[in-house]
Amino acid sequence: MIYPIHTEVLQVDPTHPEEALVQQAAQRIRTGELVVFPTETVYGLGANIFQPAAVESIFTAKGRPFSDPLIVHIAEQRMLERLVNEISPHAQQLMNRFWPGPLTLILPAGPRVSRTITAGLPSVAIRMPRHPVALALIRAADTPLAAPSANRFTHVSPTTAQHVLADLGGRVPLILDSGPCEVGVESTVLNLSTPIPTLLRPGGISLEDLRNVLPDIQLSRATPTAAAEPEQPVALASPGQMMLHYAPRIPTFLFEGTALAMRNALLAEVERRQHQGERVGVLIGDEDVAAFTNSGASLYSLGSTPEQIATRLFAGLRELEEAEVQAILCRSFEEQGLGLAIRDRLRKAAGGKIILVQE
Ligand code: TXA
Ligand code: MG
Repeated sequence: MIYPIHTEVLQVDPTHPEEALVQQAAQRIRTGELVVFPTETVYGLGANIFQPAAVESIFTAKGRPFSDPLIVHIAEQRMLERLVNEISPHAQQLMNRFWPGPLTLILPAGPRVSRTITAGLPSVAIRMPRHPVALALIRAADTPLAAPSANRFTHVSPTTAQHVLADLGGRVPLILDSGPCEVGVESTVLNLSTPIPTLLRPGGISLEDLRNVLPDIQLSRATPTAAAEPEQPVALASPGQMMLHYAPRIPTFLFEGTALAMRNALLAEVERRQHQGERVGVLIGDEDVAAFTNSGASLYSLGSTPEQIATRLFAGLRELEEAEVQAILCRSFEEQGLGLAIRDRLRKAAGGKIILVQE
């Protein structure tokens, strides 16, 4: 593929996708092209999993290494027949409870799934998104779609078509624009291909909800939480756990501590950096806004509930990046529910630059 190519953007109704537009996109998939489509989590860059050249072009368009496996998206359980040999009772329970929705299951791969999709692993990642446009496209194309998030490799995932255009404009032929994504962080990735079910990436379905169905889920040691710090670097069970993932292009720092301690430390750091002539951006919650209004920093408030914070997180990182600040300072949030995924993405955005603050 020689870049740049022309990128067409089609507005598609998010709840009642126009049949003609869906057919147009499905036709592109059939002819081996890439289509960017909305999901409830983030926008995905899709190709027919049974067309090797199309799947390869996903990696080229994103600048993603072939060592990072892709998620296969399906619209009906019968599509699983083409992907896996059998479905364990645990997998079936989770599918019944959380599909369609933001849960990706890693299952032993059947023989028809290519090594390009699995990056040579014996397992395949599968999810059934709940976004009507994603489901309509998969059905119309009549094939499972391989789709990573539609951003340049290591950049922040896109939650609007404008984010996709900024990263992949001139590199993909078609973007279906259905407005902002509802959840805002990627799907939860749960490995069921090993003896103990393991959370590889916290995401749109909370660990608490998963444990209500399957109590003995363990945390991957590469999923840092306040409660379980990894003692040393470990071999990555999922290549997407690399710290570089999800990072804005501006140095980003994450402050952790009580709400008050974080706020005071952030204010002091804003002042220190501005004194040195730097422009600073801060990513905060609604409760912090008043304290920062006269600080001189560029502010982006994520809201107050975990749902709002998740929805606005990637847009906030991108907006501060666009504001051309020289540093982005973030506060962290509680780890309950969606909070685990929020903190995971903030830590990854900071690339390990975490500042623990005390009162
Ligand atoms: O919400 C989402 O999951 C979005 C939307 C588009 O569906 N997709 C997404 O894809 O986030 P991507 O490629 O950005 O992230 C897929 C993650 C990566 O961390 C990858 O390493 C992991 O899933 N993964 C895929 N196949 C795997 C496998 N067989 N074993 C372990 N991890 C796997
Ligand atoms: Mg991604």
